Amino acid sequence: MSNLINKIKESLEVIRKFSTEKYPIGIILGTGLGGLVKEIEIEHQINYDQIPHFPISTVESHHGRLILGKVSGKNVVVMQGRFHFYEGYSMKEITYPVRLMKFLGVKILLISNACGCMNRDYRKGDLMIIEDHINLLCDNPLIGKNEDELGPRFPDMSEPYSKELINLAQKIADEKNIKVHTGVYVAVPGPNLETKAEYKFLSAIGADVVGMSTVPENIVANHMGMKVFGISIVTDECFPENLKPVVLEDIIQAANSAEPKMTSLFLELIERMQID
Ligand code: HPA
Repeated sequence: MSNLINKIKESLEVIRKFSTEKYPIGIILGTGLGGLVKEIEIEHQINYDQIPHFPISTVESHHGRLILGKVSGKNVVVMQGRFHFYEGYSMKEITYPVRLMKFLGVKILLISNACGCMNRDYRKGDLMIIEDHINLLCDNPLIGKNEDELGPRFPDMSEPYSKELINLAQKIADEKNIKVHTGVYVAVPGPNLETKAEYKFLSAIGADVVGMSTVPENIVANHMGMKVFGISIVTDECFPENLKPVVLEDIIQAANSAEPKMTSLFLELIERMQID
């Protein structure tokens, strides 16, 4: 058995003391998007430091707990607090929880994040459903010996975000009168925000928004055959000719103010999604 699978089994052993149920839906909550937690029927909360081999969150605005519970009667496993490349974690550490989720039964992974927008039609506080991404992290969680038991050496990425879930989310947003864009997310390492020249570059290569997360988790989820749905909250406008200094508090505040519509969309999506 590979080292990774051994580690996962040791982590699972601890989680299975809390629950032996299957969890078909995994959720990664991003910056300021913790409000969804209030909608979870929480059955168990496990601090990350209780789980062997789990990385520990270092960012103040992130809690570090794995929550097991129900949303709309469906079992969900939720990461309250995620790991970023800029914190110094390796790609494999960042994505370890997603590997673990697979063994808990996750088939659909829902990811939320905060981002800056380069697309001129977007505004602070808007939501963007992620249709595709560009990996500018200059690293990849799949580098190294392939774990053949978990997925293929060269995973396909022609539909990294489930078209079916995107369509369903767009339909729900229409019904609820929630404005959503659909576009391309580019992941950069951070932690500094970008220069004007970098925003111009990111826009020119086809990205609508930029952030510092989501792509590693998405790659590993695709490697293991999960369906992924991702949504970004625009927390700052990155238009080079009019770039204003951004502070973390502003980002968190923008994410918090957009959060009710994001939560409402997520809840309905979970209610209506088909799990096969
Ligand atoms: N750049 C990168 N990441 C971000 C930004 C940004 O402007 N806003 C929120 N996350």
